[in-house]
Order: sequence, then structure tokens, then C-alpha cells
Amino acid sequence: MAAMPPVLFRVSLALSCFLLCSEPALVGGIPTTLEGPFPPVTVPLDKSFRGNAVDLPDTDRRVQRTVSGFEPEQISVSLSSNYNSVWISWITGEFQIGDNIAPLDPNSVGSVVSYGVSSSGWSHQATGYSLIYNQLYPFEGLKNYTSGIIHHVRLKGLKPNTLYYYQCGDPSIAMSDIYYFRTMPVTGLRSYPSRVAVVGDLGLTYNTTSTVDHMLSNHPDLVLLVGDVSYADLYLTNGTGADCYSCSFPQTPIHETYQPQWDYWGRFMQPLVSKVPIMVIEGNHEIEKQAENQTFVAYSSRFAFPSKESGSSSTFYYSFNAGGIHFLMLGAYISYDKSSDQYRWLEKDLSKVDREVTPWLVATWHPPWYSTYTAHYREAECMRVAMEDLLYSYGVDVVFNGHVHAYERSNRVYNYTLDPCGPVHITVGDGGNREKMAITHADEPGNCPDPSTTPDKYMGGFCAFNFTSGPATGKFCWDRQPEYSAYRESSFGHGIFEVKNETHALWTWHRNQDLYKYAGDVIYIVRQPDKCPIKGKRNI
Ligand SMILES: *[C@@H]1O[C@H](CO)[C@@H](O)[C@H](O)[C@H]1NC(C)=O
Ligand SMILES: *[C@@H]1O[C@H](CO)[C@@H](O)[C@H](O)[C@H]1NC(C)=O
Ligand SMILES: *[C@@H]1O[C@H](CO)[C@@H](O)[C@H](O)[C@H]1NC(C)=O
Ligand SMILES: *[C@@H]1O[C@H](CO)[C@@H](O)[C@H](O)[C@H]1NC(C)=O
Ligand SMILES: *[C@@H]1O[C@H](CO)[C@@H](O)[C@H](O)[C@H]1NC(C)=O
Ligand SMILES: *[C@@H]1O[C@H](CO)[C@@H](O)[C@H](O)[C@H]1NC(C)=O
Ligand SMILES: *[C@@H]1O[C@H](CO)[C@@H](O)[C@H](O)[C@H]1NC(C)=O
Ligand SMILES: [Fe+2]
Repeated sequence: MAAMPPVLFRVSLALSCFLLCSEPALVGGIPTTLEGPFPPVTVPLDKSFRGNAVDLPDTDRRVQRTVSGFEPEQISVSLSSNYNSVWISWITGEFQIGDNIAPLDPNSVGSVVSYGVSSSGWSHQATGYSLIYNQLYPFEGLKNYTSGIIHHVRLKGLKPNTLYYYQCGDPSIAMSDIYYFRTMPVTGLRSYPSRVAVVGDLGLTYNTTSTVDHMLSNHPDLVLLVGDVSYADLYLTNGTGADCYSCSFPQTPIHETYQPQWDYWGRFMQPLVSKVPIMVIEGNHEIEKQAENQTFVAYSSRFAFPSKESGSSSTFYYSFNAGGIHFLMLGAYISYDKSSDQYRWLEKDLSKVDREVTPWLVATWHPPWYSTYTAHYREAECMRVAMEDLLYSYGVDVVFNGHVHAYERSNRVYNYTLDPCGPVHITVGDGGNREKMAITHADEPGNCPDPSTTPDKYMGGFCAFNFTSGPATGKFCWDRQPEYSAYRESSFGHGIFEVKNETHALWTWHRNQDLYKYAGDVIYIVRQPDKCPIKGKRNI
């Protein structure tokens, strides 16, 4: 794709102190985790960026249907478990919402992708499957929804790092325009995607559009979306919205959603994700409980996941390779205990990772284990207690999370203890959705939540006991920014993860209020395979 922009970064207060305060082994002037742990930094809140994030109205052309009949729309690409295969997804036909909805017949429109390495004359064709889903509310006055026809087609036998042109649709009805995507580089020690964008908690506000514009300008090869996608659950079925989940319409018999919001999101994202593969993991806003206790139906129906290809039987967890990086996509809102299917799958998946082929091991899930904001403070402790040992023993290098609507990067940490072999945990729940930004920190006077209020009812259990060691011994919260927190800031933005080789990856975080290429936080994450013995196959 286009030439990569040079990495520029603004010398923030934190960095200038850092540069003056120590003499580290910088790589090209950029700090590395080898000089860590760093003293905690909090960037003060910029009060000029207040105000609610507001969703695009349905009159915005970016969310409107621009096709007719059964022409494909909401086109996206996602990866299979390896470079030689991808999924193409799209939607045909119109959704219906209201009283007398009649689901479309998914078999009435074919699922075909024609593709090849040149834009004239297709050398290959693949067929897939189609489905529809309903969102049903058996209550007086609530509207039901039935989707357009959702198509998923898997392309196989692709060459690595190759530009493919494609058209999708039903050849006897309508095919799409021509789009293109590039496959991931070959899976191997010296082969990496140039830039992986990481975003969370996107929603569909004007601030989301800034995040996505900036991300597009930074030319990612792959987008990771760490949960909380359309925020359709901030709406009633009649399309009236609210700015927060817990305060929205408590009088309704079931928590309503407005499913057209998903279609708006799919349309808005198409310019990016029809050419850059997107990999999504579920967040709490995808739960969308409806009639008969069905959950996650829009999430599981609309996206294609390499679940089967990675030995998972669930859309809630899976894994894939992108060059020499093995990504673990984990589910926080499904069982994760040591006896669960997910845990058993994870053990098996980890045991197959060969660090001479994929030296980098990156894990993502929605709610962070190491966040110091008041919002969702220690909410995922039971998941941490269940899974942290396993991830640590296999030497996970980096963890990406969302959920908390702000940015934070940890020092290397394991079991709340600074540990040179623990992962760096990065929270990027700052995509710009219409809920409140996270601003207060649990270590500030009066901002430590009551322990009993911290569990999430969809995750179950209480595991966030008071600390038994360190400066916060006997307490639920620290009385200053915890030592495991290296950098935190309440601004909207996105991150770019650039693996350079088997030891060095550059992480940059880009605030929306800066130029897209400027990084507010920048660090080389450096692996030390010789110092950090791990389980599993060959350690490189
Ligand atoms: C969100 O976007 C609006 C303009 O659309 C801007 O005024 C506001 O500052 C942005 N908020 C943040 C936190 O960046
Ligand atoms: C919505 O679907 C439910 C479940 O099938 C049904 O009970 C209800 O009457 C439907 N509502 C409307 C408005 O059609
Ligand atoms: C949707 O329903 C709510 C609650 O009944 C009502 O206040 C609101 O005006 C309705 N919105 C529309 C667009 O009808
Ligand atoms: C839905 O879940 C509730 C609580 O777990 C249970 O009591 C109820 O029987 C379930 N309903 C259906 C239709 O499965
Ligand atoms: C984590 O730390 C807690 C508290 O210090 C301790 O009880 C527990 O055994 C530790 N867990 C592991 C796996 O080391
Ligand atoms: C845990 O710490 C909080 C203060 O952070 C304190 O109020 C509470 O009593 C402690 N609980 C126990 C069981 O020690
Ligand atoms: C890896 O990349 C970093 C940053 O570009 C560089 O400083 C280092 O020398 C490289 N190491 C190897 C083994 O190529
Ligand atoms: Fe969330």
C-alpha cells in the first residue's frame, strides 16, 4: 500500500522528563521497555475537549443505503487463521423493522466472490453461505427487526503479501464494484505486517469518524477491534437513543436495541474494511439480550471469524497468525474458568505456537485486567485470576483491551507485581463512542469504588480482594497512580503496532486532536526471549 509515514512524535511532558531524567538505551530516540519500569505518568485532562460525543444521524450520507435491490453493501474483509485465506462478508436486501416483518430467504441470493491478482479478468471464484438474523421483543409496543441477507465467503489458496482484486455478490442478480485487499505476509520469523491498528469502543459518533479517518491515514494493514462496536443497545427499538447504558430507559421490559445502527456502522466502515482486514472480538455492548435469552446474535451473525480454522467451536474466541505474530482473541463474557471449553482451547492453541515461526504472542479481549480508571475498576478480576498464569507461562508479549473509555499503557506486570517478563497491557477503549469518557482514577481521593459494586453481572463472581502486598496492602485501591501504570490519558484516539523483527515492536498511540501521524505515547516493546523462559515450543 502507500508509502509509510515517518514516525513522528510530540515531545510530551512525560517524554521530555523521561529524556532529561535518565540516560536510557533509546532506539532512534524512542524509549524501550528495557529501560522500564517507568515512573507513572498521568497526562492532565484537556478540558477544551469536553462535550458529548454525538452519533451520526440517520440522514448522514455515510450511513445511508446507496445500493438498490440485492446489490451488496457493508462489504468487509477479515482474516482466516493464516495468510493463505480470508473471509469476505457483505449484506444484500433491506432490513425490516416494525410490526409485520417478513424475514428474507437467505437462499434467494447467492454468495459468490470472483477474485484474482489483476483487476481485469478474474482467475478464481469462491462460494460461501448466507444467513439472516432477527432481533425479537415479545412485548407490546416494541418493534422487531429482521436483517438483510448476510453473506460470508472464504477465499483459500492465496499467496502471501499479495494484492487481490475482488467483486462479491450473486452473478445472476448483482455484483459489487471492484475492491481490493492485500494478504498478510508469510507466517515466519522475519515477516510482519507493517502496521496493525488497534481500536476499541468505537460506536458511530462524529468522534468515531475522526478516529477512523486518522486510522485510515496511518495506512494500517490490519485493524483489531477490541470490542464494543455499534452501540445499538443505547437505543430503544423506535430509534430514540440515550448517552449511557445503565441510565437508559430503565422502565422497558427488556433492554432494547435499535438494530439499524449496526447497518449504519457497516456502511460507515466499508471504505476502510473493504480493503483492510478487520478482526473483531466481542464486548459487553454486543450482548444484546433479546427474546428467549438469545445474546450476541448481531455480533455472531455479521462478522466472519476464523473459529473453525483455529480449532475453536465458538465465535467468542479464536486465534490467527499475521506474519510472525500469533493473535489470541479471547472472550470475557463466556466461561473462562480452568474447566471451560475456552480455557481448554486456549491451552491447546498455546501449545501449538512455535516461537521460531511466530515469535510474537499478542492477546486481546475486551475488559482490561490492569486499568486504574474508576470506570470498570478491577471488574475482570475473576478472568485475570483464571487465565493470567497460563498467558504468562507462555510468554504473551502484549495485551490489548478496550472497555474503559480512555488510554492507558502498563509497565510489564504479572499478578500485580512489576515483572520484566510480564506482558505490557494496553487499553484503547478510546475510540469515541457516545458514552462518557473515563476521566477519574481509582487512586484519587473519593474515587475508589466500593468493592461490592465492581463485578460485572455478565462475568460473574467476585475476585477483586484487597491487595495483600505492595504499597496498597489491605486496601482496594492505591493512594497514588499504581506502579504498574506507566502512562494514562483521557483522550480519544487509536494505536498502531509495528513489529520490526523478533525482538522489537514499535507502539504509537495517536490522539484525535493531534495530526494523525503524531504520537502522544510512543515506546518500543522489546522481547527478551533469553531472559524470559517460557513454556511451549522453541523460544526465540
Ligand atoms: C468530539 O468531537 C467534537 C467535534 O465533532 C469535538 O468538539 C470534541 O472536542 C471531540 N471530543 C473529544 C474528547 O475529542
Ligand atoms: C415480535 O416477535 C415476538 C416473538 O416472535 C412476538 O411475540 C411479537 O408479537 C412480535 N412483535 C411485533 C410488534 O410484531
Ligand atoms: C420512542 O419511545 C419513547 C418511550 O416510549 C418515547 O419517549 C419516544 O418519543 C419515542 N420516539 C419516537 C421517535 O417515536
Ligand atoms: C432465560 O433465562 C432465565 C434466567 O436464567 C430463565 O429463568 C428462563 O427460563 C430462560 N428462558 C428461556 C426461554 O430459556
Ligand atoms: C498472586 O498474588 C496473590 C497475592 O499476593 C497470591 O496470593 C497468589 O498466590 C499469586 N498468584 C500467583 C499465580 O502467583
Ligand atoms: C478493603 O479496602 C477498603 C479500602 O480500600 C476498606 O474499606 C475495606 O474495609 C477493606 N476490606 C477488607 C476486607 O479489608
Ligand atoms: C530489531 O529492530 C530494532 C528496531 O528497529 C533494531 O534496533 C534492532 O537492532 C533489530 N534487531 C535485530 C536482531 O534485527
Ligand atoms: Fe465495554
